[in-house]
Amino acid sequence: MKKIALTLIFATAAIFAAEANATAAKADANKTEANATAATAAAPSTAACVACHGAKFEKNTMAKDKVPANLSKADFAKALKGYKDGSYGGAMKGVMKGQVANLSDADIKAIADKFGK
Ligand code: HEC
Repeated sequence: MKKIALTLIFATAAIFAAEANATAAKADANKTEANATAATAAAPSTAACVACHGAKFEKNTMAKDKVPANLSKADFAKALKGYKDGSYGGAMKGVMKGQVANLSDADIKAIADKFGK
């Protein structure tokens, strides 16, 4: 009888230990996710821009726009802000308005700093 009780105690302890490990693993996974989110916040996705401008903004479009990669960081940001509030752009600025509508000022700065000169 004593042996059974001891076995039970050990088995229970083992289960608790396993559960604690699982919880720790889950916490780690959450941390990884939080890091991924922070990384995204620091450099907003430019995946949608690639189709028209190329991965490094080395292309201008069929409009008479400048190659974004040749813009200074300040001008890059100025252009994006201007498209957002309607104060910048040429005949096709409507295309860009939609592209930048959901970008915050911080997003715009991050993109301009990364891809501008
Ligand atoms: C559907 C195609 C398309 C997509 C997608 C697009 N753009 Fe543009 N972009 C244009 C066009 C067209 C213009 C020129 C608009 C005009 O007439 O002013 C332009 C102009 C620009 C300019 C200014 C160039 C200049 O002449 O000063 C910048 C900077 C720019 N885009 C950045 C971006 C960024 C950043 C993204 C993604 C968030 C993006 N674009 C997504 C089509 C696109």
